Amino acid sequence: MQIESNQSAVPIPSRIPTSELTERIQKLGEWFHNLDLCGVKTAPNHFLGDFPNVKWKQISPAIPEHLEGVTVLDIGCNGGFYSIEMKRRGATRVLGIDVDDRYLNQARFAAETLGCNIEFEKRSVYAVDQIPGQFDFVLFMGVFYHLRYPLYALDRVIKKVRGTLVFQTMIRGSETVRSLESDYPFWNKEIFFDPDFPAMYFIEKSYSNDPTNWWIPNCAAMEGMLHSSGLTIIAHPENETWICKPSQVTRDGRYILDMELDGTL
Ligand SMILES: C[S@@+](CC[C@H](N)C(=O)[O-])C[C@H]1O[C@@H](n2cnc3c(N)ncnc32)[C@H](O)[C@@H]1O
Repeated sequence: MQIESNQSAVPIPSRIPTSELTERIQKLGEWFHNLDLCGVKTAPNHFLGDFPNVKWKQISPAIPEHLEGVTVLDIGCNGGFYSIEMKRRGATRVLGIDVDDRYLNQARFAAETLGCNIEFEKRSVYAVDQIPGQFDFVLFMGVFYHLRYPLYALDRVIKKVRGTLVFQTMIRGSETVRSLESDYPFWNKEIFFDPDFPAMYFIEKSYSNDPTNWWIPNCAAMEGMLHSSGLTIIAHPENETWICKPSQVTRDGRYILDMELDGTL
């Protein structure tokens, strides 16, 4: 793959006076991503600390330092933190998608301020397969548990992964993953009382003051779903993040999603 000649791998930040920058950041509404925009922090009081820098510190060693020639799709890009980090590593093309205009506007402003050439587009994960082609890296981070149909979305996302999927979700319950039998008899009810057995917690009302938190898996359920969607886990750099490669995402040349939807899986 060729690097576009008009893009520099090292972005050149723009020079907006700090007072104007602060005002423009505030006008874009409350930020979820704490970005450092030329010395001005966008979410300095985030309840998770310096987020998502704290996560990136743990995940970034599992991602190549040099991404020249690489394409990236960032699903649920929010304020653009991960898109910007991938661009900083030299990615040739980065496309960030999100359903929320406030976050997309923040991401566009952040990328422009930092001199990063990144595409941002309003699009739901459920429409991800309408984006032409596949991507070397797909980031699907912090979105899974916000979806009513999480596995359906994951099976759609997989269609876009040419190389690597970086997946992150909130995890609750047991973080122990044990090997399981390939089958259990119908009358074995005890297994379901084992906290390590794969489970997803369904939130009918709200969790953490956020009614869009729908399904929260434990670790075993998440790894089980990743395997079941045809992915091989190659790294688990922190307790909520898995780096995966597609290995058995198709059967007889057809994606699992398409087979399931037409009843042939
Ligand atoms: C918890 S934030 C995670 C942001 C970022 N990916 C990260 O890991 O820091 C969830 C993001 O997913 C976006 N989102 C929610 N539902 C979505 C959907 N159906 N399609 C795409 N993005 C979605 C939200 O707007 C929000 O920006």
